[in-house]
Amino acid sequence: SRTVTRNADGVVTVGGRSVTELAEEFGTPAYFLDESDFRARCRAWRDAFGPEADVFYAGKAFLSRAIVRWLKEEDLNLDVCSGGELATALDAGMPAERIALHGNNKSTEEITRAVEAGVGRIVLDSFQEIVRVAHIAERLGKRQRVQIRVTVGVEAHTHEFIATAHEDQKFGLALAGGQAAEAVRRALKLDGLELVGIHSHIGSQIFDMAGFEVSARRVVQLLAEVRDEHGVELPEIDLGGGLGIAYTSEDDPREPHEIATALRTIVTRECAAAGLAVPRISVEPGRAIVGPTAFTLYEVGTVKELPGLRTYVSVDGGMSDNIRTALYDAEYSVALVSRSSTAEPMQVRVVGKHCESGDIVVRDAFLPSDVAPGDLLAVPATGAYCRSMASNYNHALRPPVVAVPEDGKARVIVRRETEEDLLRLDVG
Ligand code: LLP
Repeated sequence: SRTVTRNADGVVTVGGRSVTELAEEFGTPAYFLDESDFRARCRAWRDAFGPEADVFYAGKAFLSRAIVRWLKEEDLNLDVCSGGELATALDAGMPAERIALHGNNKSTEEITRAVEAGVGRIVLDSFQEIVRVAHIAERLGKRQRVQIRVTVGVEAHTHEFIATAHEDQKFGLALAGGQAAEAVRRALKLDGLELVGIHSHIGSQIFDMAGFEVSARRVVQLLAEVRDEHGVELPEIDLGGGLGIAYTSEDDPREPHEIATALRTIVTRECAAAGLAVPRISVEPGRAIVGPTAFTLYEVGTVKELPGLRTYVSVDGGMSDNIRTALYDAEYSVALVSRSSTAEPMQVRVVGKHCESGDIVVRDAFLPSDVAPGDLLAVPATGAYCRSMASNYNHALRPPVVAVPEDGKARVIVRRETEEDLLRLDVG
């Protein structure tokens, strides 16, 4: 990120503070998040999409009160997918009309809370939910703005677990076979619902624009079918999140303006062909906003050389603060940041401290061959889906998130868990 540099002694500094100082003040492992980078990325998305579109930050990537305040100040909206995320958003003062609620199995409590608060939209994901949300809204004397989530049937080129637009998965209602059209039919009949649009999210960590383009085209085709059948032009489409980021130097991500241009071009062209007014477009980037803004700082505890096999470098965290390597074979890079070294680089495996051999942070890393206990290692691009997917496995204490503004006045935005936190829940 922009505020990271290396000083003359080879020590990396962040917003003017050396990582050694940061490790002393905040401990390790810890996530350090560059606030100005986060805000700049929010603005890049807003500017790329312009005033005739809405950018919803996907809170699942990482959410805290500070994040909500920054989003509010940078004029972004917020996508939440659980009662917990909704509570955080409302607590930190995000206006309800700027919140969208997602989920394939929202509870009655979650829906009720969202409708009561007056969220801007609920994204409907099943036939049961269409009826459920309508009943709750009617009971509360409200008309809830909703979108219908559809699966457009494209195979996004990403890991199977994070691809969501092919038909055989749990999200959405399929365009193929007419379930999506049937969902529209049912939603339009219910007084508790104001159907405002169609939603499609094709997956995550995607570099290729083609999937987004197919998705946009098929969603517009559905708008045309809805107009032909019901005489209604739905005013909004949401094309989800999913833009990939660079985890290693091999990744070549697209910029927000590239996806904005691609989507606008397709939607405008398809609407013109179908004789539709261009709907308001929204998108839901999570990873692309927060992913690159943070790195994890670890301390090396042991270095174990297995002759003829490999060297294992163990750090003081692991799968409890970054499950992505174990879960998706995700690739990360790692650097020695507490000193410079002229030693030859060697291939190592950076692992965590958990009781599990799959507890890998970086599968194949190059570190100076004199890497030793006490060294600090940084793993970049851990802003998305690391703290938010962190666990207490082995009763690990989840690490803090420290915001580092440009002036270097680092401050904790999510504190480190303590043993007291762990034991507080254990009431047996
Ligand atoms: N909108 C919807 C409806 C989503 O389901 C998601 C992600 C997003 C937006 C944001 O996608 P993004 O722009 O962050 O790619 N845990 C996985 C990612 C799962 C994403 C689930 N949905 C990972 O660590 O890669």
